[in-house]
Amino acid sequence: MALPSATLAPDAAATAALVALDDVSMVFRTNKGLFRSGQVTAVGDVSLHIARGETLALVGESGSGKTTVGRISIRLLEPTGGRVWFDGQDISHMPEERLGWLRKRAAIVFQDPFSSLNPYMTVSELIAEPLVIAGVRRRAEREERVRAALTAVDLTPAARFMHAYPTAMSGGQRQRVGIARALIREPEFIVADEPVSMVDASSRVEILNVLRGLQRERGVAFLYITHDIASARHFADRIAVMHLGAIVESGTARQVIDHPIHPYTRALIAAVPEPDPANRFRRRAAERWQDEPGAAIHLECPHGGSPTAETFLLQVPGEAGHLVACHVAAPLAR
Ligand SMILES: Nc1ncnc2c1ncn2[C@@H]1O[C@H](COP(=O)(O)OP(=O)(O)OP(=O)(O)O)[C@@H](O)[C@H]1O
Ligand SMILES: [Mg+2]
Repeated sequence: MALPSATLAPDAAATAALVALDDVSMVFRTNKGLFRSGQVTAVGDVSLHIARGETLALVGESGSGKTTVGRISIRLLEPTGGRVWFDGQDISHMPEERLGWLRKRAAIVFQDPFSSLNPYMTVSELIAEPLVIAGVRRRAEREERVRAALTAVDLTPAARFMHAYPTAMSGGQRQRVGIARALIREPEFIVADEPVSMVDASSRVEILNVLRGLQRERGVAFLYITHDIASARHFADRIAVMHLGAIVESGTARQVIDHPIHPYTRALIAAVPEPDPANRFRRRAAERWQDEPGAAIHLECPHGGSPTAETFLLQVPGEAGHLVACHVAAPLAR
C-alpha cells in the first residue's frame, strides 16, 4: 500500500491529554558478570497521549517494551530520556516523595496475578494496603471501601472474600483482587497490563466486562496493554502498535485494525484466526515478515527507507490521527 505525501502529526491532542509521553526512552543497565556491564534499550523515543476517559491499547509481542511504557506512564519507572506529563504536570523526574497525588490518581493492574499478590495477606489487607499507605486510619472506612471495591469487580458477596487468601483463589479471582486494589483510591487512570493473559478463558470476558464497566460508569482512562489485538478492538478507543521498543502505527481502533498499513500491524492481525478469505493478503504479509523480520519491514516501508535510520511517525493523509512509522519521514515532511 502506497503512502501519499505526508505531514508530521500535530500534537494538540497531546497537550490537552490526561497522560502524555513525549519521546520517552528507557535504557536498562544490566550486569553480565563481575567486571562486565551492558545496556538494553527497552524503549526508544515513544510518544503517546491518553485523554480523560479514553482507552488506548498498547499492542505488541513479548519484549516489545509495553510493560516498560506502562510503568513509566505512572512513574513506577523513571525514564532515561524524554518527558512524561500527567494532567499538565511534568512528572518525568519528580522525586517519589512529591508523587503522592499521582499515586491516588493513577494505578496499575499488574500482568501476573500469581506473583503480584502477597500470599501472606488476606484479600481485605491486599486491597486496603494503598489506603493504609495513604494514611486512611479508620478501620471501618477502609473496610467499607474494600467492600465497595469487591462489589465493583463482582467478587460478591464481599464478606465471603474479604478474609480469604489469594492462594485459595482462581487466576480470574486473583486478577479481580488486583483490579479492586487498583480501584480502591478511585483513580482517573489505570494501566491494565495484560489483565487477562494469565486467567482462564471463561474469566476473560467477565474481567474485560468489569473493566468496561469502570470505563463507562466512572470515566476511568486506561492504558490497556495486550498482545491480543482482537481484544484491543473491543476494549479500546485507539490502538498503538509497539515493535522493538518503538510505536510503528497508531490510530483509532477502526483505522488500525480495518486499514493497517505497517507490515508488523498486519502480521499481528493475521495472527488472529480469520475465517474471512478477504483477509488473506494480510496473512501473506505476515508470512513474509516472519521469514525475514527486519528486512520485510524495510521492504514494505512505503518510501524505501533504511531500517537502520531513525524512524519517524507520519500522519496518513486524510486519516486524522492515523500514524505510521516510516524511516524517511523527516526529509519528506520538510
Ligand atoms: N529491569 C530491567 N532490566 C533490564 N532489562 C529489562 C528490564 N525490564 C525490562 N527489560 C527488557 O526490556 C525489554 C522490554 O521489556 P517489557 O517487559 O517492557 O516488554 P513487554 O512488551 O511488556 O513484554 P511481555 O509481553 O513479555 O510482558 C525486554 O527486552 C526486557 O528484557
Ligand atoms: Mg509486559
